[in-house]
Amino acid sequence: MTVATLTKTRRTPLKAGFAPPEHDLGFVLGAIGNKLFVRDRSLAQHVAWSVQHGVLEFLDDRSATMEEVAANTPLTEAGADSLLSVLAAIGFLVRAADGRYSLTTVARDFFLPRSPYFVGDQLDPSGLPIPGPYLRRRADFLTRAKLRLLTLHPSIRYGSKVRIENQHARNLGACAAAVRTGEFAGVHFLIDVAGGSGAFAIPLALEYPSMRIILTDLPRATKNARPLLVEHGLQDRVELLACDAFEYPWKIPACDGMFIGNFLHGFDDAVCDRICRESFERLSSGGTVWVHEMIWNESRDGPLITALWHAAMRGGGPGRQRTAQQLSKLLRDAGFRDIRTIPTSGAFALIRGSKPG
Ligand SMILES: C[S@@+](CC[C@H](N)C(=O)[O-])C[C@H]1O[C@@H](n2cnc3c(N)ncnc32)[C@H](O)[C@@H]1O
Repeated sequence: MTVATLTKTRRTPLKAGFAPPEHDLGFVLGAIGNKLFVRDRSLAQHVAWSVQHGVLEFLDDRSATMEEVAANTPLTEAGADSLLSVLAAIGFLVRAADGRYSLTTVARDFFLPRSPYFVGDQLDPSGLPIPGPYLRRRADFLTRAKLRLLTLHPSIRYGSKVRIENQHARNLGACAAAVRTGEFAGVHFLIDVAGGSGAFAIPLALEYPSMRIILTDLPRATKNARPLLVEHGLQDRVELLACDAFEYPWKIPACDGMFIGNFLHGFDDAVCDRICRESFERLSSGGTVWVHEMIWNESRDGPLITALWHAAMRGGGPGRQRTAQQLSKLLRDAGFRDIRTIPTSGAFALIRGSKPG
């Protein structure tokens, strides 16, 4: 088989009794600085922008918070947060418990212009421009036009075929691992909110043949998820329901399980709070919600794949990756109790909460 045919070949459908991947895809992607996101920015680009915008030089003789870096460089808080997070995750910075960042010796040796071993001016990362939300000043006309053009590409549109297939490739492994935690064994009827391609619903339906499962998403997404269900022979097992998560109340039946995967990371805390409260309302008493997200480690300086996702979310809107504590608080504030964190694959974890019976 040639490489050209390989790239066009669909992956083999999952089958009942599937084995989740042995390795964490996030680790593999972190190592090559790629997220499988559309509009991906490489790891080298993040380092080059940090050098170009003086982040490392500003930290030469001081430690500083993200806000202080933003105030003293051309970066916004979103930009400073993104770049500091990536630099800490690759070991160029240390992040103290109070959120202050300082340089490590490797960064001093190679990324400060005053060092004879400076290499920062030799990084030549081709690719996309720095995201507009990272900079306080407006980008020049050509850059703005380039960024605008990117937003017209179908891969950017939620629910497009290419986007759904991209989500599937990126999230299937972690979702298969989530199913295999055994967390869902007692559920009778689960609703997968903003379930996209079925990356979670498909392994769930294969693992639990008698569970009722509804996958909700925007109309275009449910249309493009159907071929994936058909490919797995699950078109009669997983019900598709077009439902906009921002139209309240959600028009869904009461259920005893709800799954919200990779959705909250797209939004700010106020929106997430509203979504969590709505899920609490729609669940039956005694029901359980599971949020599945790529989370930060306890010192909030890694792993690298979380830092890269965080940087991508902050460059595209109000989203961000969160710690397990931040996600737990969102569930607690919505009324959920007995909140627990269950690791699934690499940086991914389930945060579960129960609606009191
Ligand atoms: C990052 S994907 C996650 C999909 C899936 N849960 C997973 O983990 O692979 C986010 C999903 O949210 C959906 N979405 C975006 N806005 C939505 C809305 N207003 N209502 C419902 N779904 C929405 C998108 O179509 C997309 O499938």
